[in-house]
Amino acid sequence: MQNITAVILAAGKGVRMKSALPKVLHKLCGKPLIYYIIKEVKKAGIERVVIVIGNQAELVKKTINDLFEGIEFIEQKELLGTGNALVQAKNKLRKEDNILVLPGDAPLITADSFKKLIAAHKQDNSCTLLSAYLAYPQGYGRIIRRDKKIIEIKEERDVSCTERKIKEVNSGVYLFKTKPLFKALSKISPDNKKKEYYLTDVISLFAQQGLKIDSLSISEKEILGINTRKELACAEKIMQTRILENIFKKGASIIDPATTYIAEGVRIGKDSVVYPFTFIEGNVKISKGCQIGPFARIRGDCLIGNNVVIGNFVEIVRCKVRDNSRIKHHSYLGDCLIGRNVNIGAGTIIANYDGKNKNRTVIGENAFIGSGTILVAPVKIGKSAITGAGSVVLKNRDVPDGATVVGVPARLLKRRKSNG
Ligand code: UD1
Ligand code: MG
Repeated sequence: MQNITAVILAAGKGVRMKSALPKVLHKLCGKPLIYYIIKEVKKAGIERVVIVIGNQAELVKKTINDLFEGIEFIEQKELLGTGNALVQAKNKLRKEDNILVLPGDAPLITADSFKKLIAAHKQDNSCTLLSAYLAYPQGYGRIIRRDKKIIEIKEERDVSCTERKIKEVNSGVYLFKTKPLFKALSKISPDNKKKEYYLTDVISLFAQQGLKIDSLSISEKEILGINTRKELACAEKIMQTRILENIFKKGASIIDPATTYIAEGVRIGKDSVVYPFTFIEGNVKISKGCQIGPFARIRGDCLIGNNVVIGNFVEIVRCKVRDNSRIKHHSYLGDCLIGRNVNIGAGTIIANYDGKNKNRTVIGENAFIGSGTILVAPVKIGKSAITGAGSVVLKNRDVPDGATVVGVPARLLKRRKSNG
């Protein structure tokens, strides 16, 4: 493959989001917008990724470093536009042959499109860009052509009435030859309504010099750039559909995609079925043959074994549930390890939070937790132990293997001696 470095522009404030949070950190299906861009770029085989940061730089950097290794950062001190953002990276990039520039707010563009863009970037192209044809092109830069050749990209606020009707728009993703790019960037000026240095102005300079510009068009579902909360909600729908499609491919069923929310990164095994109104978020793995929901919520780090039933109105967070266990109705289980073949009765609550710390509970295999039990963590319920309906097992009052406890607070039930 040609030598390509990716530069993601992520310094902007995201004024149109009306938020204290930098735009690229807004969550889409549970992960920051910029996560998807980095992930897809890496998937396309690009190893070197440089990110231009500015607004709340430290927070953006820390969030990205928690998700990926080996990303390089460069700071744009004054937010003077996309062209100015790229200039900041000049010293880091001048030795590269090609630079793939990406906006930090277009998370739906896939690795496949990046690969196609790279393939279309012929030796004599100075720029190859991704565009799209939109029925409603509002908000995007328009691609202006003469005799079919791209001669300019004009921002919406700078177009004429006729140009406004152009349906071919700029995705903000361009593959440039490095030398002509930085040469042109040194010539652009903030001569527009926003008084910013527009990266898009490089295109008309290229055209004037007779440099070759090519384009490749991608679908409406990939191009979406997120500038507003409404666009974020649109992207959420598209990304959710993709996540569910991947789950279908693995052999799991989602009864009603419209009322199911599954975050990026959740894994669901073969022949598991997710019933409606279920939310699965965080680092969750559900193994094979499980029944989840309706009305269930699984979050945090959770590992659910094979053939587990998690029924209606059950919330599970940071739990390991081993094979064949059943939590069928109205329960809250937090910070817990549940062994194999455990039955958790209706209305069981683990009181895992004491106001300061989250405490752990362990429930041994084959245990039977009676309906309405409260387990005050930290506590351990032995293998094959039983708790009576409505019992309250206090913290550190571990229940031995095979024992039965009842009442409030729960006490050991003595076995009656048989008369014989
Ligand atoms: C940009 C393009 C537009 C294209 C659209 C696609 C320009 C001038 N316009 O418009 O043609 O149709 O994307 O989504 O490039 N940024 C910086 N520093 C800055 C300004 C912006 O790093 O000084 C970053 C932002 O954080 C963002 C990206 O650049 O991630 C794009 O900026 P944004 O303001 O969203 O540009 P658009 O108006 O969407
Ligand atoms: Mg944008």
